[in-house]
Order: sequence, then structure tokens, then C-alpha cells
Amino acid sequence: MIKPDGVARGLVGEIIQRLENRGLMPVAMKMMRIPPDLARNHYAVHADKPFFSSLIEYITSGPVVAMVWEGKNAIEASRATMGSTDSLEAVPGSIRGDFGLDVEQNLIHGSDGPETAAHEIELFFGEIGPTSSLE
Ligand code: RTP
Ligand code: MG
Repeated sequence: MIKPDGVARGLVGEIIQRLENRGLMPVAMKMMRIPPDLARNHYAVHADKPFFSSLIEYITSGPVVAMVWEGKNAIEASRATMGSTDSLEAVPGSIRGDFGLDVEQNLIHGSDGPETAAHEIELFFGEIGPTSSLE
């Protein structure tokens, strides 16, 4: 997902290009404003963290681009292309390392495992399912 800061800064095309350059394939994409309930569900794993309310405020602060990407080792590859959570520690060459400075406003979200991916795809796209291929 391209987060609100990524959209506001005009990085939608750049981020999609980088994922395509990596060899991944987009299979679903939509621009949306995340309702607060969906945001809290999506980030439920962080409900006890001190930054939770700030995170919900941030992710609902403007439009995002929700996406589903496929490809070989797609989760590992896309997270390496995203860079470390804290943009300051993300290596140059990664999306966060090239465009970010902040630990919270870090431009992009990526699922961290197959189960999380399936859950998040269901949350954001419903019927598309985790293994859809556009033929
Ligand atoms: P994401 O879930 O968004 O793909 O990012 P991630 O796996 O790299 O990081 P995660 O630990 O899951 O944290 C989720 C998002 O919460 C914000 N965050 N703020 N203030 C803080 O210390 C802090 N730590 C994390 C970031 O927006 C992070 O992406
Ligand atoms: Mg995460």
C-alpha cells in the first residue's frame, strides 16, 4: 500500500515503477481513503503499541493506493525494495532509504508474511483472494 505521504508527495508512479522494475506484477490496485475501523483492523497487531493512535491518524489522513502484487518471493522481494521500517535506517536504493526520513511516515506498507497477506487482501479487496492471477 502506498501510504498517504507517498500519495501526497507524488511518489505513486515512482513506487509502482520500482516494484515493477524488481520483476513483480500488479494484479489489483485501487485508490481509497481508509475508514478508521478498517485501519484499526489492518493494524490490530499494533493495538498495544504507544504509536497506535498516531498510526491510525496517519494512515487515515489522506488517500492511499491499495495494491496486490504477485511474483517469485513477492513478500521478501517487496519488503527489501521498501527498506527498513525506520526510513533513517533504510539503505539508499530502497524506497524508504531514497525518499523517507521518518519512522512513522515511511511511504509504503507491505504484508510481512503469507497469512498476513491473505488477511490484508481479504480486508481490502474481498473476493479477489490471495492467489489470483489475471490471465
Ligand atoms: P508496515 O507494516 O507499514 O509495512 O511497516 P513495517 O512492517 O515495516 O513496520 P511495523 O513494525 O509493522 O509498523 C507499522 C507501521 O507503524 C509505524 N511505526 N511507527 N513511532 C514508531 O516508533 C513507529 N514504529 C512503527 C510505521 O508507519 C510502520 O510502517
Ligand atoms: Mg508491518
